[in-house]
Amino acid sequence: MASFPLPTTVGHLSKNPSPPSAASFSSSTSTTTTSNSQFFLNQKRSHAKKFLSCRAAKDSADKEALSDGKFDRRDILVGLGAGLYGTTAVSGAAFAAPIDVTKCGEATTLPTGVTKIDCCPPPNPDIIDFTFPSKTQPLRIRPPAHTLDAKYVAKFKKAMQLMRDLPSDDPHSFAQQAAIHCAYCDSSYQMVGFPNKKIDVHFSWLFFPFHRWYLYFYEKILGKLIDDPTFGLPFWNWDSPAGAPIPSIFADTSSPLYDVLRDASHQPPLMADLNYSSSVASLTGDELIKSNNTVMYNQMVSSAKTPELFFGKPYRAGDDQIKGQGAIENIPHTQIHIWTGDPNQPNGEDMGRFYSAGRDPIFYSHHANVDRMWNIWKTLPGKNRKDFTDTDYLDSAFLFYDENKQLVRVKVRDCLDTKKLGYDYKEVPLPWLKSRPVRKAKKASKGGAGSANAAEAPTPIEDASTAFPKVLDKIIKVNVPRPKKSRTQEEKEDEEEILEIDGIEYDGDEYIKFDVYINDEDEVQSGPANAEFAGAFSNVPFKVSKKVKTNLSLGITELLEDLGADDDEGLVVAIVPRTGTGKVTIGSVKIKISS
Ligand code: C2O
Repeated sequence: MASFPLPTTVGHLSKNPSPPSAASFSSSTSTTTTSNSQFFLNQKRSHAKKFLSCRAAKDSADKEALSDGKFDRRDILVGLGAGLYGTTAVSGAAFAAPIDVTKCGEATTLPTGVTKIDCCPPPNPDIIDFTFPSKTQPLRIRPPAHTLDAKYVAKFKKAMQLMRDLPSDDPHSFAQQAAIHCAYCDSSYQMVGFPNKKIDVHFSWLFFPFHRWYLYFYEKILGKLIDDPTFGLPFWNWDSPAGAPIPSIFADTSSPLYDVLRDASHQPPLMADLNYSSSVASLTGDELIKSNNTVMYNQMVSSAKTPELFFGKPYRAGDDQIKGQGAIENIPHTQIHIWTGDPNQPNGEDMGRFYSAGRDPIFYSHHANVDRMWNIWKTLPGKNRKDFTDTDYLDSAFLFYDENKQLVRVKVRDCLDTKKLGYDYKEVPLPWLKSRPVRKAKKASKGGAGSANAAEAPTPIEDASTAFPKVLDKIIKVNVPRPKKSRTQEEKEDEEEILEIDGIEYDGDEYIKFDVYINDEDEVQSGPANAEFAGAFSNVPFKVSKKVKTNLSLGITELLEDLGADDDEGLVVAIVPRTGTGKVTIGSVKIKISS
């Protein structure tokens, strides 16, 4: 693939960054932009309501109305060479890597009613390319947040306080750090060659690497503020029972690690529900532990044996922004966001929405655990557990201020090995690793006497080839044919059998959660603790002008072994609405074999 020269200066950025404003950095500006400083001063529960609703966000319909570039990718190459961007060179990313990090403007996908905010970094014309840190420092070890000793807590709090105390136009300030998430998730950046396409680093293969780089600089800045280059960002160990509640260091109301905009009923010692759905009561005690462990087993081990299943679908220049989430992004990453945010805020702020999630210090520890899952996933048995090697992925670029306030362009290819980045995770037990679920006991007679639901008419089983599209307003059960049955062990190791639910369509502002079961004879499906549970779909809502259209892919090879269904011609797939019932349409359900 052709590569492009990396620009060291970018024409339209102001040489004189004072005072910082959206206008000096953006290609599209707004005179009504609220500065981050003002935003953060207002970040108190008493003010939040008024602030969040004081002005309807101006719709960007005019932008949407402009047609997206209709060239193929080769034409774009030529177009860029001919000066499509005037004096601005194409970003360091190869053309198919989507984000143009030099073009930051107004966040255009903020929820309705949220005042416009400037999410772009303070302007600076000097951008350098990332180089690896020297090996002279010991590895920064990220510890589990619920096990820190007093000294570590003091250090962490001090760093956070110093970060919060910086002026909001300082790239190291907490306000600026939080705004990074908004910029990359609420379409502040332009797409290379497609200025009218929106950019979001979620719902695709960019999810893991973007957040890895984000935390890398966040951690280095915290370390710099306390003059401790060995500082490792604590991770929220929600995949273990002891680590599942909000770690107490974040719940101390007098601490700089505290954030008031959280669900008041989800305070420690309550454990987070990794399969949380706001409209279904969470399990408790041992049942919740079992459910959490099997969810983790499902998402890490059985349903995510290939890169696409784990990391998410490819996302290249010209693509629409919702490509398809990987297993962990889908669940439990989303659950932790929704479970932690305050449901009494208009949009579940802070953690429940992307534009505001970075304002809660727990966000970074949540994502440290997500990041840790990437490292763990690669060590689990299975020959397809490798990073993508596609250059469109490896050359995707992001822009961050480093610990020396230097703007650095980073590429995905440089973040695949955390040890090369100078950090690793403290090894702790993985209680879910051995939590392979088992099949339910067979019923003596279907729907006969003794069945709790004998009075209820069972859901009819339709033919998957004719049943869709269908609104998910009640349980859908379909018979899905398999392309191949009775595969050998070797075939199964090479290629995964994948259940594909396509054309999942909903308004992006809605929180959607549905569960998927295979060959479950019960009408009331019982949750992840049984092998019949194949996985679930969920999303952190965000505003888009069109309906979101996405998909869910679940690896089912191992699950079919557990169900004794290896030799079956077809499977009965049940799609069970949990949240957003009636607000999502399903386009198709198929089974394919793929590596
Ligand atoms: Cu960028 Cu957990 O979201």
